[in-house]
Amino acid sequence: MGHSMPLLHSISEVRAAIRQARLAGRTVGLVPTMGALHEGHLSLLAAARERGDFLVVSIFVNPTQFSPREDFTTYPRTLEADVEACRAAGGDLVFAPSVEEMYPAGFCTTVRVQGLTEGLCGRFRPGHFDGVTTVVCKLLDIVQPDRAYFGLKDYQQFVVLRRMVLDLDLPVEMVPCPTVREADGLAMSSRNRHLTPEQRRVAPRLHQALQAGSEVLRQGGTGEQAIAAVQEFLSKEPEFRVQYIEAVNPETLEPRLQTGRPVVLAVAAYLGETRLIDNLRVD
Ligand code: PAF
Repeated sequence: MGHSMPLLHSISEVRAAIRQARLAGRTVGLVPTMGALHEGHLSLLAAARERGDFLVVSIFVNPTQFSPREDFTTYPRTLEADVEACRAAGGDLVFAPSVEEMYPAGFCTTVRVQGLTEGLCGRFRPGHFDGVTTVVCKLLDIVQPDRAYFGLKDYQQFVVLRRMVLDLDLPVEMVPCPTVREADGLAMSSRNRHLTPEQRRVAPRLHQALQAGSEVLRQGGTGEQAIAAVQEFLSKEPEFRVQYIEAVNPETLEPRLQTGRPVVLAVAAYLGETRLIDNLRVD
């Protein structure tokens, strides 16, 4: 048996536990998640461990970042396995609040980052980033970590949250962590477990398409040409329903269709009912 690790459901219990950790001289790291943990999440936990932070993992499938048409009810929920994975990875505390704990009756505040949320995923998921910024703002306030760790697979999410932290003067260091991939290149995602074996077989094409696009950029091509290369690659796989392919400035997320570096190439596509996203940065 490894160490025991509390699973807490209330904000007041979490605050008390963190107070104790602070009194013991610990710095605090937060890894916010929606559970269904995979190697990508575990790499965030490992990054926090490396810094020696008292490691808090939040597990909360946040309803406000799903639109009524999206997969809130079918989003994978594997709390028991997640808690065990956090314990095994050296987590110090799991915070798994109920929806009522986070959004009690009468809750009516939204934290919104403008501009950065309008393109890419924001264009197809209206209200999504308002849900993300609101819940992460609450989590940062509840835990008050020194550092918070996020995966770069959700590139726009990281840029939006970093802006929120700057704009609201939240005293936390935002730590971006590289996308973790399966051996065949597929970016790890909790949603991958919804893929059928056939969809799983073609899913790595998304990453390969981005590699084809980044090769165009490396050869001196424009953003527009890179997008066309990604599009052409994906058109060979009729299973994909592409939502967007974009080349953007990594800081402003504005389209970078001509030359100019660095560039983030980003893509979103459906395989069946499962929406996958991925991105690659070219410097
Ligand atoms: O990336 C996620 O898992 C979620 O969007 C987050 C940051 C935990 C907010 O619910």
